[in-house]
Amino acid sequence: MKNRVIGIMGAMPEEIEGVVALLSNCVETTMGQRTYFSGQINGIEAVVVFSRWGKVAAATTVTTLIQQFNISELLFTGVAGAISPELKIGDIVLGKRLIQHDMDARPLMAQYEIPLLSKTYLESDETHLAIASKAINAVIENRSLHAVIGEQELLEFNISQPNLFIGDIASGDQFFSKNEQKENLKAQLPNVLCVEMEGAAVAQVCYEYKIPFSIIRTISDAADDSAHIDFPSFIKKISSKYAAEIIKNIFKIL
Ligand code: ADE
Repeated sequence: MKNRVIGIMGAMPEEIEGVVALLSNCVETTMGQRTYFSGQINGIEAVVVFSRWGKVAAATTVTTLIQQFNISELLFTGVAGAISPELKIGDIVLGKRLIQHDMDARPLMAQYEIPLLSKTYLESDETHLAIASKAINAVIENRSLHAVIGEQELLEFNISQPNLFIGDIASGDQFFSKNEQKENLKAQLPNVLCVEMEGAAVAQVCYEYKIPFSIIRTISDAADDSAHIDFPSFIKKISSKYAAEIIKNIFKIL
């Protein structure tokens, strides 16, 4: 069996800095303009990196984690814009199925189908979904986010008790900052909970290499006309704390 090495990815420095701080015996390796931080969390080998935004950046980074660092599992933590009206800023979404909303090779293939892979949705496996959901529920139940995020920040984003949602996440090379973009996606893919720019690319590479993956997203904005205000503020003040708390709890039960 492969040695257990957990790859942990985010798209932005703010999404991984709290996780890097959890590493003991941290060693830095720079490759392809990315810095990979290797060490242990709770005695388990881990490699942490931020990819930059978008599907290409994410795909090349996860490929490096697989080929150069021999990861056995992949955790992605980051933020997303809400598509479902049930989601509020601060809620957490665990991707059961990932879809590339900008994949369109019609009329040669069905809309959203990944050419020559015969797949539209990439699915996370039940074991890793169960581990991630148990850890996230522990974070919510223990109110550990309230211990690490200031009262003022919680009030600013109206975060009281975050909820966990498990379902479809859509990814594509677009930042959603217009009501119209959101409405179009909702009409086309009504089951999608949230939108981001990397998850389905990471899921595709992991599927191709048979690496189990978990895509975990905190809602930073409503993916509409208000997104360009909420997103940068959430990234600056909150996202790193969510990522660190969630990863800490996952490593307690791995
Ligand atoms: N990630 C976080 N918010 C997003 C948005 N509004 N669009 C795309 N990706 C996002």
